[in-house]
Amino acid sequence: MNRRTLLAAGVGTAALAAAIAVTWRRGMGSAARYDTWARGLRSPLSPALGAAEWVRYATLAANSHNTQPWHFALDGSAARPRAITLMPAPDRRTPVVDRDDHHLHVSLGCAAENLLLAATLSAQAGTLESAGPTGVRCAFTASGTSTAHALAEAIPWRQSTRAAYDPQPLAPAELAQLEQAATLPGVDVVILTDRARRARLRDLVVAGNTAQWRDAAFVAEVQQWLRFNPAQAMARGDGLYSATTGNPSLPAWLGPLAFRLAVRPASDSARQAALLDASAGAVLLFAQQDNAAGWVQVGRASQRLQLAATRLDVRTSFLNQPVEVPSLRAELAVLAGLPGRRPDLVLRFGRGPRMPWSPRRPVAQVLA
Ligand SMILES: Cc1cc2nc3c(=O)[nH]c(=O)nc-3n(C[C@H](O)[C@H](O)[C@H](O)COP(=O)(O)O)c2cc1C
Repeated sequence: MNRRTLLAAGVGTAALAAAIAVTWRRGMGSAARYDTWARGLRSPLSPALGAAEWVRYATLAANSHNTQPWHFALDGSAARPRAITLMPAPDRRTPVVDRDDHHLHVSLGCAAENLLLAATLSAQAGTLESAGPTGVRCAFTASGTSTAHALAEAIPWRQSTRAAYDPQPLAPAELAQLEQAATLPGVDVVILTDRARRARLRDLVVAGNTAQWRDAAFVAEVQQWLRFNPAQAMARGDGLYSATTGNPSLPAWLGPLAFRLAVRPASDSARQAALLDASAGAVLLFAQQDNAAGWVQVGRASQRLQLAATRLDVRTSFLNQPVEVPSLRAELAVLAGLPGRRPDLVLRFGRGPRMPWSPRRPVAQVLA
């Protein structure tokens, strides 16, 4: 082969590699475009647009695996609804991690709380009229005052931040604000800041996390909800987008294979333990009624706690492994000083950086 042929072959290979790289990147979408899209979902509420805007704010709530397991039905006009019912979306259940729909009802509770708070931005007062297995009904009346609830402004800024936090303790007044926000009738709140109990919690998180990643059914279910790149996250508008956990983007065809190869229970558990250690503390929530109504109430409480933290520029993230693995619940309840009760949620908190926003489906897709 002479030099000219070699040169031509080299140029050809480089051009092919560049073309593959461009196609590869184009198929995945850009992180910058995703960020603009995700910020658009979180634009400030326009009271003039009525209840559709309250529903948009409701969809920004925390929810398990970001399945967004809800439909919203309006009773009355969009400009002045009498009530809005949040109904479970059965096709968005996650039966492996959540066999009794506990997380689904907690997620409905998180969204209901956002809905009630969002209405105050339109000078409407909302109350939770009923909650049960078939849904949550929120009723609204004109409040006669234009004072918005302080937590409502934080709705677009809240996120589940899966980053390392500053382990510096929060001030006692800040802890009191978190506890007060989460204190709703029917919910017990336990805040852990001491070393000894946090170490026991860490052991339970590690045990739960390791058991989950060793369970093929759990891994298969999580995989269905992973969104491996910005284009996929925007197209689907749901699920766990890789960047929110600090993972790189991958083409949709490669993501599942790479995910399967990357599952390492021991090293992931070590990472979860390190995240808990790098936090200012943790909070455990317990519903007094172990049924759909109780789980909705605990979801509301957790959403309020996250919003109160957001107002203080404090990050939060769930570490629910020891409530998702049934055999670990009894020990977690003992650790919290509530033996015999079912623990519902575990969150860690602390100051730290923000992470990329998670996706949401448009309001038109969730209005029944
Ligand atoms: C009931 C429930 C359980 C959750 N469990 C976990 C969990 O164990 N680990 C985790 O990282 N996130 C967990 N999350 C957080 C969701 O994944 C998160 O809310 C969702 O992906 C949307 O992201 P966002 O909160 O940033 O808007 C949970 C949320 C809820 C409501």
